[in-house]
Amino acid sequence: MKRILVTAAGGAPAINFVRSLRDAKQDYFIVGIDANEYTVFRSEVDAFELCPKASDPIYIDYLNFIIDKYKIDFIHTQPDIEVGVISDNRERLNCKTFLPAKKSVEILRDKYLSYKVWNEAGVPTPDTILINNEDDLKRSFEVFGTDIWIREIQGAAGKGSLSSPKYEEALNQIINSDGWGRYTAAEKLTKKTVTWMAIYYHGELIVAQTRERLYWEHGNRAQSGVTGITGTGRTTSNKLIDDISIKSIFAVDKNPHGIFSVDMTYSKDGIPKCTEINIGKFFTTHYFFTKAGINFPEIFVNLAFGEEVQMRGVINPLEDGLNWIRGMDVEPKLVRDGEIQEVLNRYNGFKQNL
Ligand SMILES: Nc1ncnc2c1ncn2[C@@H]1O[C@H](COP(=O)(O)OP(=O)(O)O)[C@@H](O)[C@H]1O
Ligand SMILES: [Mg+2]
Repeated sequence: MKRILVTAAGGAPAINFVRSLRDAKQDYFIVGIDANEYTVFRSEVDAFELCPKASDPIYIDYLNFIIDKYKIDFIHTQPDIEVGVISDNRERLNCKTFLPAKKSVEILRDKYLSYKVWNEAGVPTPDTILINNEDDLKRSFEVFGTDIWIREIQGAAGKGSLSSPKYEEALNQIINSDGWGRYTAAEKLTKKTVTWMAIYYHGELIVAQTRERLYWEHGNRAQSGVTGITGTGRTTSNKLIDDISIKSIFAVDKNPHGIFSVDMTYSKDGIPKCTEINIGKFFTTHYFFTKAGINFPEIFVNLAFGEEVQMRGVINPLEDGLNWIRGMDVEPKLVRDGEIQEVLNRYNGFKQNL
């Protein structure tokens, strides 16, 4: 039986990964580690342990201790920071990894570096200015006016995002978070977002699936409306999205290997523009695709072990219009567009008769 180590095991992204493996054809022995003595109990693994934070100098030694103790074959990690540390130290680990090239991880963990590569390669991406000082911030407001989007260049869940802030608001946030050189200003896009999640193997596309995000859960609790917690995701397919996604990946890496998940937001004139690629990790709610019929973690782990997978170059295998409706403390529901329409129709019928 394959023995898999999953980090941040009490977090939703890892739980979605583990649930997917539980639904796979093979059985796995899964060990989970987590840096928090409370959230570690949420993990759905065969054995769990606490671990230090990825920033702790002993992190890699500790991983090797766990790898040895539990005879681990393969490690998978979801949080961005851990992807960075494990990527940099992959050759020190005493088990398999399935990660893209170090350089690609470095570029794609930095949203400003990513922007520069895409902009040069002609990949649609919002115009962006790095804010090193107050002059840059002033210039950003001159260039973008009120249609401005401020955010941090590293992190997830809309870290540091401000939608059309006043100049002083942006200035205060950057100063308070010691953010000079770590923030960008960009052209403000619309609220329509899509993600194209793919697995590559030595330069070859294995499978990719698109889903749009209909809204952010708890969106009214963040200044920018972005909470990083997807409310409802919906399968969709569109040639333009496929083309832009592939171009955005190859602009950074000519030999993609591992997970590349392209996040795009539509501009006002209807163009999906790349705002980031999550590299080396699946998007949080990927159990959606598993339940809908395509088990990315299973394919990923099989590839990591060098096993034959039948799939090659498959884009958007799932039917359009499948909705994954989720929220805090509720079991997600997989619902077809038609079912939602039916509820709406009934409601409209009732109203008409009043
Ligand atoms: N220039 C922008 N204009 C409007 N919204 C943006 C812009 N850049 C990012 N966003 C919003 O922030 C969300 C998160 O951005 P993303 O690039 O995926 O980074 P992360 O998920 O790491 O915070 C996007 O899905 C989108 O809703
Ligand atoms: Mg994102």
